[in-house]
Formats: sequence, structure tokens, C-alpha cells
Amino acid sequence: MKGIILAGGSGTRLHPITVAVSKQLLPVNDKPMIYYPLSVLMLAGIRDILIISTERDLPQFERLFGDGSGLGLNLSYAVQRQPNGLPEAFLIGADHIGTDSVALVLGDNIFHGPRFSDVLAGSIRDLDGCVLFGYPVHDPERYGVGETDATGRLVSIEEKPARPRSNRAITGLYFYDNDVVDIAKNLHPSARGELEISDVNQHYLERGKAKLVDLGRGFAWLDTGTPDSLLLAGQYVQTLEHRQGVRIACVEEVALRMGFIDPDACYALGAFQAKSGYGQYVMAIARELGAREPRTP
Ligand code: DAU
Repeated sequence: MKGIILAGGSGTRLHPITVAVSKQLLPVNDKPMIYYPLSVLMLAGIRDILIISTERDLPQFERLFGDGSGLGLNLSYAVQRQPNGLPEAFLIGADHIGTDSVALVLGDNIFHGPRFSDVLAGSIRDLDGCVLFGYPVHDPERYGVGETDATGRLVSIEEKPARPRSNRAITGLYFYDNDVVDIAKNLHPSARGELEISDVNQHYLERGKAKLVDLGRGFAWLDTGTPDSLLLAGQYVQTLEHRQGVRIACVEEVALRMGFIDPDACYALGAFQAKSGYGQYVMAIARELGAREPRTP
């Protein structure tokens, strides 16, 4: 399975914070926002990842991650010239996807919850069409909304409905089979003038091939759309990190635990940023999992 992180858009709801800086590079506590969705794809075992952003911001993502080989990844980059809608990711990324299936994650979506990697692995294993992830929210009218019947089967999907039929938002993480490329090619812009991901999902639903996985109450799917929610997301991460002494979405640790890199390589990534608490943490984890102390010359 290939991965795509869509990290474009103009971040207008965060102006003036995002006038000169990409929203997806803003800090969420101790790391850039994009670390969170990147770690989701990595936890799903995906290593071939395309990062899509604006012409202005793409060079910054490249500066941050390079070709990804340090993390045992194969990262590539592509420009989205205008925010024409989420499904454009499948047109821009058609060559990257090739004949494979694909996971799309939005660069501003933060997920955290128990046994998430098991949930992801199970969803990929059972992929037959598309898998969407639902999450209960108090303001569903701001999102794609999924309605299920008594057996939990998905029966309708609507994009930002004025009168939502359920409180279940469809989150910004989507798994698709290869048909998604053709579906995206045949989409028409909505009344908003954009291609809508809910229209893609509707295609799958009509063919009986859309599955909804409920993330449920014990899970966190955090909003980063306004200054308040961005700060709250940072505070959530800070609270857990302080309390548990672990870091959420530490991509170096995820790479190590997933077996993408070995402990020595992980240690080196930490040593490179040793002056920050984050770097110290990466070094400590690498040591705990077997890194040898580098010899001083
Ligand atoms: O976050 C989940 C929601 O994401 C879903 O529930 C909705 O169904 C889906 O349409 C989307 O809704 P948003 O209102 O959050 O979409 P927005 O236009 O704000 O874009 C989401 C992110 O993707 C944002 O960080 C900017 C980026 N983006 C957006 C568009 C339209 C792009 O990089 N390119 C684009 O063309």
C-alpha cells in the first residue's frame, strides 16, 4: 500500500499565523503537525509516501524530511497548485500509486488511541473497496458525516450537511483500493467549486464497498483548525507526554519500533537534535532498544 499526505491549502482560518508558514508545519507541543499524520502511515506499515503541498511550502517539507531514508522511508514530493479538493491527491499522485492500494491522510489530522496500529493493520488486511474511520463529535455539520444502520453498516455519507443524520464525523484518514484513481478522474466539482472526498466515498458506498471503522470514545481525534483548537491539541499531547514520559508521534521511535531502522540509526537521529528534550528522548529510546553508545574519538 502506498501513502499520501495532503498538506496544502492556505490555512486561512489560522491567519495571520499561516500567512508565511504552512499550517502543517506549526508546532503541536514539541513537534511539527505533520509528524502526527506521518506517524499514522508509518504505524500502518506504509513506507512509500508522497507529500503534497503548495508550491510555496513544499521546499520546507523537503528540508524537514529529505528523501526519508533516515527514517527507513521512501518519501517523494509533489505540488498542488490550487486547493482544488482532497481527491486531487489521487490525480497528482496517480504515478506514485501505480497499481497499488493507497492510504490518504490529511496533514492536519491528529489521531491518538489504544492499539491504533492493530486497528490500521486490520483495516488494510480486510480492504475491499474503501475503509473510512468514524469519530463522534458534537459539531458534525463541520465534517463529512457517516450514518450507519442498526448493524453498524454505513448507509449514507454527506459532506458538511446542514442537518446531520448522525454525530459521526468521517476523519481525514482513508484507505482505498486502486479504483480510487479512476473514480477521482471522473469526479465533478461540487457547488463549493471543489472535488469532494465524500463524493469518492459515495461511489464506494453505492457499490457496497465502503466500510466504516468506529474509533470510539477512548480515542482522540483532535482538531487543529482554529488557534484555540490548535493550542488544545498541543496541551493534550503535552499532558500525556508529561504524565507518561512517552512521546506521541515521535517518528524516529515509530521507525525503530516498526523495524524500519535499527537502534544505532535511531540513536544517530536523536544525537543530531541532542540539545532538545525531543532529541534526548530519541537517544534514550534507542539505547533502551539496544543502541550501542558511540565511541568518543
Ligand atoms: O478533517 C476531516 C474532514 O476533512 C472530513 O470530515 C471532510 O469530509 C473533508 O472534506 C475534510 O473537510 P475540511 O473542511 O477539513 O477540509 P479542508 O478544505 O479544510 O481541508 C483539509 C486539509 O487538507 C487542510 O489542512 C488543507 C488541506 N487541503 C485541502 C484542500 C481542499 C489541501 O491540501 N488541498 C486541498 O485541495
